[in-house]
Amino acid sequence: MVETMKIDIVSVFPEYFEALNVGLFGKAIERGLLDVKTHDLRDWTHDVHHSVDDTPVGGGAGMVMKPEVWAECLDDLLGLKPVEINDEDNPATFATTHQVADRPVLIFPNPSAPLFTQRDATELSHTSHLLFGCGRYEGYDARIPRYYRAQGVDVREYSIGDYVLNGGEVAVSVMLEAITRLMPGFMGNPDSIVEESYTGQNALLEHYQYTKPAVWRGMGVPDVLTSGDHGKVDRFRRDEAIAHTAQLRPDLIQQLDCKSLDKADRKTLMSLGWEVSGPHPRKLDD
Ligand code: ADE
Repeated sequence: MVETMKIDIVSVFPEYFEALNVGLFGKAIERGLLDVKTHDLRDWTHDVHHSVDDTPVGGGAGMVMKPEVWAECLDDLLGLKPVEINDEDNPATFATTHQVADRPVLIFPNPSAPLFTQRDATELSHTSHLLFGCGRYEGYDARIPRYYRAQGVDVREYSIGDYVLNGGEVAVSVMLEAITRLMPGFMGNPDSIVEESYTGQNALLEHYQYTKPAVWRGMGVPDVLTSGDHGKVDRFRRDEAIAHTAQLRPDLIQQLDCKSLDKADRKTLMSLGWEVSGPHPRKLDD
C-alpha cells in the first residue's frame, strides 16, 4: 500500500498547474502516490467581478489579496469554522519552529519570507497533506497566516530566492517538485538523491558529470574516471565537489562540521586556503 500525499493548490490561475501531469510527477499521480487538487480562489468570491484583492491600507502601489476570500476558501479546504481571535496573542511574525505531525501544512510562497531549503523539502516530504496558497499582486493580507496559525494550523511562508516573481505559482511548482521527489517510492533510483547537492548535513555542490563518448569534439574526460579504480574516482569527485563549493558557495563550506571531514577533505580544503581546526572551516584571508 502506498502512502498518498494529499496536495491542494489554491490560485487565481489554477490552469497553470496542468503542467504537473507530465514526467515523474504525473506518474506519481497515476500511481496514487500523490492526490493533487487545484482550486480557483475566485470560486469563493460573491461579487459580480469575482474580486480577490483590494487597495493597501496605509496607501502604496498595487493591490493586496483580501483575507475574507482566502479564509472562506481555506476554511472549506481545512474543515474549519470561522472564529474571532484575540489579536494581541497573535503577533505578525514568520514562524521559525515547526513540527511536522499528521496535520495539514499550509504553505504561502512569499518573497519576504525565510528561504526554502533542501532541509525544508526533506521535512515536508513526510507530510500527508500540503495546502499551497498562491499570492498575486503585492501579496496577501498578513492576517491570513496569523489567523490560521492561531487555529493550530502549521503555517509556513517561504521565499524560493532573492528575486520577485509575479505570483506564487512558480514558487509552488518549485517547492512541490523539491518536496515530492524525496517521497519514498517517487524516484526510480533513490540512490541518485543521496549523491545530490544540498543533501545531508554536510551539503556540497556536486562534482562535474560526464557520459560517453570519452572524447567528444576533441574534449576528453578526466583520466581517473576511466581508470576503474573506484576509490580514486570517489576521491576525485569529492575533491571536485569541495573545490566547486569553496569557489561558488563559500557559505556552505563555512557550515560544514569539521569533525565529519576526513583527512583528505581537510588536506583539500587547506590547499584552497581554509583553516579546518575549529568547529567549522574558516577562510584564512577573511
Ligand atoms: N512570490 C513572488 N516572488 C517570490 C519568491 N521569490 N519566492 C516565493 N514567492 C514569491
